[in-house]
Amino acid sequence: MRPISLICVVLSYVAYTYGGSCTLRRSGEDDGPAFLSAVKACSHVTIPKDTILNISSPLNMTNVKNKHIDLRGTIKFNPDIDFWSTNSFSFPFQNETTFWIFGGTNLLVNGGGAIDGSGQVWYDAFATNASLVRPILLTLFQAENVLVEDIHMMNSPQWFNFVNEGKHVVFQSINISSVSTNANRNKNTDGWNTYRSNDVTIKNSVINNGDDCVAFKPNSTNIFVTELNCNGSHGISVGSLGQFPGVFDVVENVTASHVRLSNVENGARIKAWAGPNVGSGIVRNITFKHFSETNSDNPLIIDQCYMTDPTVCAEFPSNTLIQDVTFTDISGTPSGLEGSVVASLKCSPDARCENIVVNNLKLMAPANEGPATYVCQNVNVTGNAAHFFNNCTTT
Ligand SMILES: *[C@@H]1O[C@H](CO)[C@@H](O)[C@H](O)[C@H]1NC(C)=O
Ligand SMILES: *[C@@H]1O[C@H](CO)[C@@H](O)[C@H](O)[C@H]1NC(C)=O
Ligand SMILES: *[C@@H]1O[C@H](CO)[C@@H](O)[C@H](O)[C@H]1NC(C)=O
Ligand SMILES: *[C@@H]1O[C@H](CO)[C@@H](O)[C@H](O)[C@H]1NC(C)=O
Ligand SMILES: *[C@@H]1O[C@H](CO)[C@@H](O)[C@H](O)[C@H]1NC(C)=O
Ligand SMILES: *[C@@H]1O[C@H](CO)[C@@H](O)[C@H](O)[C@H]1NC(C)=O
Ligand SMILES: *[C@@H]1O[C@H](CO)[C@@H](O)[C@H](O)[C@H]1NC(C)=O
Ligand SMILES: *[C@@H]1O[C@H](CO)[C@@H](O)[C@H](O)[C@H]1NC(C)=O
Ligand SMILES: *[C@@H]1O[C@H](CO)[C@@H](O)[C@H](O)[C@H]1NC(C)=O
Ligand SMILES: *[C@@H]1O[C@H](CO)[C@@H](O)[C@H](O)[C@H]1NC(C)=O
Ligand SMILES: *[C@@H]1O[C@H](CO)[C@@H](O)[C@H](O)[C@H]1NC(C)=O
Repeated sequence: MRPISLICVVLSYVAYTYGGSCTLRRSGEDDGPAFLSAVKACSHVTIPKDTILNISSPLNMTNVKNKHIDLRGTIKFNPDIDFWSTNSFSFPFQNETTFWIFGGTNLLVNGGGAIDGSGQVWYDAFATNASLVRPILLTLFQAENVLVEDIHMMNSPQWFNFVNEGKHVVFQSINISSVSTNANRNKNTDGWNTYRSNDVTIKNSVINNGDDCVAFKPNSTNIFVTELNCNGSHGISVGSLGQFPGVFDVVENVTASHVRLSNVENGARIKAWAGPNVGSGIVRNITFKHFSETNSDNPLIIDQCYMTDPTVCAEFPSNTLIQDVTFTDISGTPSGLEGSVVASLKCSPDARCENIVVNNLKLMAPANEGPATYVCQNVNVTGNAAHFFNNCTTT
C-alpha cells in the first residue's frame, strides 16, 4: 500500500510538470505575496539556490493541485512577533497557529533547500511570556498525495510540521534543527504531529529539537515512521489522548521502527488521560520496534493515568482503551532521571490495557542506581520480556 501511494504521488507529479514554471527572486521586501501568486499560477515554482525569500505575511496555499515547490534556496519567516501574533492562521486543535498552510492534491516540495522559522526571537520572548502564541512552521491542511523530501527545516518557533486532515503523505530525508543560542529553551518544537490523518510516512530523517520527535495526535491511522535519528527530544509518542470531554480519539495502526534516540526525555511512549472530566478513545495496533536509545529518561512507557493522581485514576480510570501494543527490540542506556526505573507500563484499573507484548528488551541499568527496575500497574504483559513486568497490581 505504501509504495503504491508513493508511486501515485510521483506519477501524478510527472504528469503535470509540463504546466507553467515560475522562478522567484528576493524583492527586498515581503516576498509572501509573490510566492503565493507563483504557487497559484504555476505548477513548478523554483526558489533558486542563494535566494532567501523574506516571508512577512501568512501563506494560505490551500486547495491547490499538482504543485511542485522546488526549494533550492531558503524560505525565511520574518521574525516579527507582534505581526505574527495577530496574523497567523489558527486551528481549534490545541489553539495552534501557523505561518503557512499548504493543502490540496498532488503536492511535492523538495530541492535541498531550507525553511527557516527564525525561532530565536520566539524562544527568547517565550521565556518571559508563557502565553505567547507561537506559529507552526508548516501545516499540511487537507492535503492528499504529498511528498516532502530533502529539505532542511530550521528554528521553528513551535512545532515544525503539522499534518492536519491529511491522506497519503510522505516526508523523507528531512533535517530538522532547532538550536537555541542561549539559555532560553526551544520549547514545543515537535518534529511532526499527525492529527485526523491517514496513511502518513515519515522516514530517513534527522531531528534535533526540544519536544516530541514525532507525535500521533487524535485520529492518526496507518502511520509509518522509520529510520529516524532523534536527538534532544521527547521521543516517539502516541497522544496524549482522551483529554477533552465529549471527544473520542482514535490512534490505530502505527508502526515506528529503526529509531535512534539520544538525550531524550522519552523513547517509545503512549499517554492517555484519566480523571472525572476527560474524553475517551481507543489506541489499537501500535508497534515500536528496533529502538536504540542513549541517555533516555523513560525508554519505554505507557501512562494511562496521564496527568492524573493515582488515587483519582483508581476512582476514574481512563476511558481511552489501549490494545495490541508491541514493543520489540528496545535497547539502550537510561539516563537515571527516574532512578533505577528503566521501563514503565502503567494502566488504569479494570483491564483497560489489553494484549501488551514486550520482546527483546535490552535496557542497561542506569549508572549509580543499582540494578534496573521495571514498573507495571494493572497490566498483563506477554512476550519474551514479560518476566520484567511480573509484579503488577491487577485490581
Ligand atoms: C522583510 O520584509 C519586512 C516587511 O517588508 C521588512 O520589514 C524586513 O526588514 C525584511 N527583512 C529583511 C531581512 O529584508
Ligand atoms: C484560505 O483561503 C481559502 C480560499 O482560497 C479560504 O477559503 C480559507 O478560509 C483560507 N484559510 C484560512 C485559514 O484563512
Ligand atoms: C484554548 O484557548 C482557550 C481560550 O483562551 C482556553 O480556554 C483553552 O483552554 C485553550 N485550549 C487549549 C487546549 O490550550
Ligand atoms: C504574551 O503573549 C500574548 C499572546 O501572544 C500577548 O497577548 C501578550 O500581550 C504577551 N504579553 C506580554 C507581556 O508581552
Ligand atoms: C541533511 O543533513 C545531512 C547530513 O548532515 C546532509 O548530508 C544533507 O545534505 C542535509 N540535507 C539538507 C536538505 O539540508
Ligand atoms: C543533541 O542534544 C543535546 C541535548 O539537547 C545537545 O547538547 C547536543 O548538542 C545535540 N547534538 C547534536 C549533534 O546536535
Ligand atoms: C475520530 O474518529 C471517530 C470516528 O472514527 C469520530 O467519532 C471522532 O469524532 C474523531 N475524533 C476526532 C478528534 O476527530
Ligand atoms: C497493524 O498496523 C500495521 C501498520 O502500522 C499494519 O500493517 C497491520 O496490518 C495492522 N495489523 C492489524 C491486525 O490491523
Ligand atoms: C488497520 O489495519 C487493518 C489491517 O490492514 C485494517 O483492516 C484496518 O481497517 C486498519 N484500521 C484503520 C483505522 O485504518
Ligand atoms: C490479567 O489476566 C487475568 C487472567 O486472565 C485476568 O483475570 C485479569 O483481569 C487480567 N488483568 C488485567 C489488568 O488485564
Ligand atoms: C517481584 O516482587 C518480589 C517480591 O516482592 C521480588 O522479590 C522480586 O524481585 C520482584 N520482581 C521484579 C522483577 O521486580
